[in-house]
Amino acid sequence: MAGGVGSRFWPQSREDKPKQFIDILGIGKSLMQMTWDRAAKFSAKENILILTNRVYEKLIAEHLPDVSQGNILTEPSRNNTGPCIAYAAFKLYQKDPEAIMIILPSDHLILKEDIYYQKIKAATTYLQKNEALLTLGIQPSRPDTGYGYIQYSNSHDEIKEVLSFKEKPDAATAEKYISEKNYLWNAGIFIWKAKDVITAFEKYAPTLFQIFDKGNAYYNTDMEQSFIEENYPDSPNISIDYAIMEKAENVCTIPADIGWSDLGTWTSLWAVKEKDANNNAVINAEEAILSNTKNCIISTRKEKLVVVDNLDDYIVIDEKDVLLIYPKSKEQEIKGVTQRLKEIK
Ligand code: GDD
Ligand code: MG
Repeated sequence: MAGGVGSRFWPQSREDKPKQFIDILGIGKSLMQMTWDRAAKFSAKENILILTNRVYEKLIAEHLPDVSQGNILTEPSRNNTGPCIAYAAFKLYQKDPEAIMIILPSDHLILKEDIYYQKIKAATTYLQKNEALLTLGIQPSRPDTGYGYIQYSNSHDEIKEVLSFKEKPDAATAEKYISEKNYLWNAGIFIWKAKDVITAFEKYAPTLFQIFDKGNAYYNTDMEQSFIEENYPDSPNISIDYAIMEKAENVCTIPADIGWSDLGTWTSLWAVKEKDANNNAVINAEEAILSNTKNCIISTRKEKLVVVDNLDDYIVIDEKDVLLIYPKSKEQEIKGVTQRLKEIK
């Protein structure tokens, strides 16, 4: 899934070049390229579909020159991950209802790749015999309100039953979940059979089901794109988490210690970056002189000297045309800034 805007990572992530296309870690590869490399380890390249908004088609081709045109599915409108997954599920179902879908966000960091491959393998093996909607679960480290929370039933099994799923809780609820200890973060990596998720769409998201069910005669033919152009924009704008995960009953999770980070916000980048003795992460600056300053993430242009005094728990991002100074505690609101800017223009 490579169609998101990455709006909480503004101003580095922009609508015309979202964060999956940025070399956020400064290692010469975008997050999109890293995701592709990992997927190619457990799937034949011809079976990897990339779903994106049509405005990013060119960027995908630039970042993944080996991917054939037919494997890039373009969406004519922005409707979040619910419709995107429904489209892929119906298309695959038409070829093989038993097909196992491994749904990957394109903008995550995974440091422990070997464990990640093991978990994917365990999930696909489990699905040979069980009808379940699986999601990878991450041990939470802070009451972050930007994630889905999975309440699971503790057992000795590698794959655990999910008791409830709450997408993006408010701060007080997130605090409560963290203190209760039987919660994991939803990694947003889902594994299930095409037929099982379609059954879930029919039950819990019937509008989406009806829209994509109309396309059965067109998927995998040369009429597919025109069907999508005409019908996709009618989909409700809803993420898979609200459309299905919060409602479904046959959800299971695999706790996965895979060195995962969503890199969805500045704090999540701060969490994985090298920090100084006062927990400040400084990115790109030529030099930084920080006094009485702690827990900050500061990013500027390579040639600059940064001088900061008396700042605690802040995000300071200096881009060519934008300077952002924001308390970390309010970073979920950065998404709203881009919205406000659009309204002003
Ligand atoms: N093709 C396509 N079309 N991709 C999309 C769209 C869309 O309309 N919208 C988002 N995506 C992609 C994003 O690029 C990202 O790779 C992935 O789908 C997830 O979308 P986000 O917008 O980043 O979701 P989130 O981070 O707010 O929440 C999800 O991920 C969290 C973990 O990272 C949820 O699944 C949470 O429950 C989860 O904790
Ligand atoms: Mg995300």
